[in-house]
Amino acid sequence: MPLQGKRLAIIGAGKMGQALLGGLVSAQLLPPEAIVVTDVRPEARQEAKRKWGVAASADNSNAVERSDVVMLCVKPQTSGKVLAELAPSIRRDHLVVSIMAGIPTDLIVEHLGQPIAVVRAMPNIAALVGEAVTAIAGGRYASREDLRVAQAIFGAVGKVEVVDEPLMDAVTGLSGSGPAFVYTIIEALTEGGVMMGLSREISARLAAQTVLGAAKMVRETRLHPAILRDQVTTPAGTAIAGVYSLESDGLRPMLINAVRQATRRSGELSQMLQSQVENGKRSEEAA
Ligand SMILES: NC(=O)c1ccc[n+]([C@@H]2O[C@H](COP(=O)([O-])OP(=O)(O)OC[C@H]3O[C@@H](n4cnc5c(N)ncnc54)[C@H](OP(=O)(O)O)[C@@H]3O)[C@@H](O)[C@H]2O)c1
Repeated sequence: MPLQGKRLAIIGAGKMGQALLGGLVSAQLLPPEAIVVTDVRPEARQEAKRKWGVAASADNSNAVERSDVVMLCVKPQTSGKVLAELAPSIRRDHLVVSIMAGIPTDLIVEHLGQPIAVVRAMPNIAALVGEAVTAIAGGRYASREDLRVAQAIFGAVGKVEVVDEPLMDAVTGLSGSGPAFVYTIIEALTEGGVMMGLSREISARLAAQTVLGAAKMVRETRLHPAILRDQVTTPAGTAIAGVYSLESDGLRPMLINAVRQATRRSGELSQMLQSQVENGKRSEEAA
């Protein structure tokens, strides 16, 4: 039990902070008394307190002082300000887990001003329904035990994969942005059903459950998707007619390209964010 006996501070109780909090408390990975959440918005603090029985505060430094693991769940644009607030309270034995998109572990270490263990994570929006997939990467001072702690945290809201940090843009391009691609596919399948005479409601339910069922088949059988596809394409049948149409219309390169474009965009955005955070730090030091 890597989280046993640990005290956790969640900095930022927005969508992701609340989803992680809910997952941790529901899975009983930590008792509510071991968790403190902070947010600048009183209503977010109230919600965390009321729903999950945890302590909630507006004081980031105090929350950090009272914890062993600090989760950074604020927007990346706020990271410079929040890290500056946390730096004086951070101890060498803290583990910092950041879900801030595009902010590298080295930049966090630099802002905190100490050789601190940092794990960077990229969850996706399905954390809200306990079906996220999160990629985690350890920074230069993070140990295997630190990765195990992060694995336990994100395991409360779905599956977890460990990757090298330079691959985080690819993760953002695939599983971070992927829900948007799949929503588009579900919407298009629904339209297909409507075009063929199904009601929109029934068509939408058939489309969503078909995607969920196919994903579960891939995950649970561990068979290559091509083998599963071969199993459902009977000669001269309906599925092969549809698959032929998808292949000739270029679905495969289209999806590969979507991941490639999203990965490139993630790289561009992280460069922009890093320059913003670095410039912010320089102007603070100059002031
Ligand atoms: N949403 C996703 O699908 C997703 C996926 C992967 C990673 N992420 C990452 O997760 C992080 C959080 O995203 P989110 O969607 O949960 O954002 P969010 O809903 O905006 O949550 C962030 C919360 O932090 C609060 N906050 C701002 N400044 C603060 C401070 N100084 N101290 C404490 N709290 C503060 C915000 O309040 P205000 O609204 O008043 O600023 C807000 O309530 C981001 O870094 C994002 O890159 C999100």
